[in-house]
Amino acid sequence: MKSVFEAMKSRGGSLGCVAASAILSLAFAGPLAASEDGGVHGFHETMEALGEHSQRIVSAINHEDWEWVVREAEAIAEHPRPPMAERRRIMAFAGERKAEFQEYDHEAHAAAAELADIAAEGDGREVINAFARLQTTCLDCHSNFRDDFRQHFYMKNKDAH
Ligand code: HEC
Repeated sequence: MKSVFEAMKSRGGSLGCVAASAILSLAFAGPLAASEDGGVHGFHETMEALGEHSQRIVSAINHEDWEWVVREAEAIAEHPRPPMAERRRIMAFAGERKAEFQEYDHEAHAAAAELADIAAEGDGREVINAFARLQTTCLDCHSNFRDDFRQHFYMKNKDAH
């Protein structure tokens, strides 16, 4: 939250009341909204959440608790999108590869929805196969974008934007 106030100050206090209160409500809306500093925190938290859901899917498979798999897969399929400002930044980063990035995102959602459907039928082997397909979609995007993404958003001096 502090960084939002610092950002307001550094903009010379020229923000109108409406803009200021909009920023305040963002600040209090929690970490998903903390994207006013040019970062991609919301996206990062989404990824951490996806990682936790997929770990719970492993546990659920080991317990043969197919209903649990359904819930976790649905949470992946319907995961909250990062704030608009972040999505714009990410699309700008992707540049000419924007369609490719969106395609990976789409494939991950589709594979998660398919896993939820298959888990609802309770055939363990099919669930494991569908889970492998889901993890492959995660891997595809990571192997093509993660290094560049981290380089772009986390390594460089933010003041250089
Ligand atoms: C459209 C691209 C894309 C898809 C699809 C995708 N990711 Fe990611 N993921 C990224 C990028 C880019 C990063 C690196 C950015 C970061 O770590 O903040 C990342 C980072 C992560 C991290 C590391 C977070 C950390 O703390 O370092 C985890 C865990 C993760 N993703 C899980 C998943 C899982 C699980 C799936 C599939 C269900 C998935 N991701 C699908 C793009 C994607």
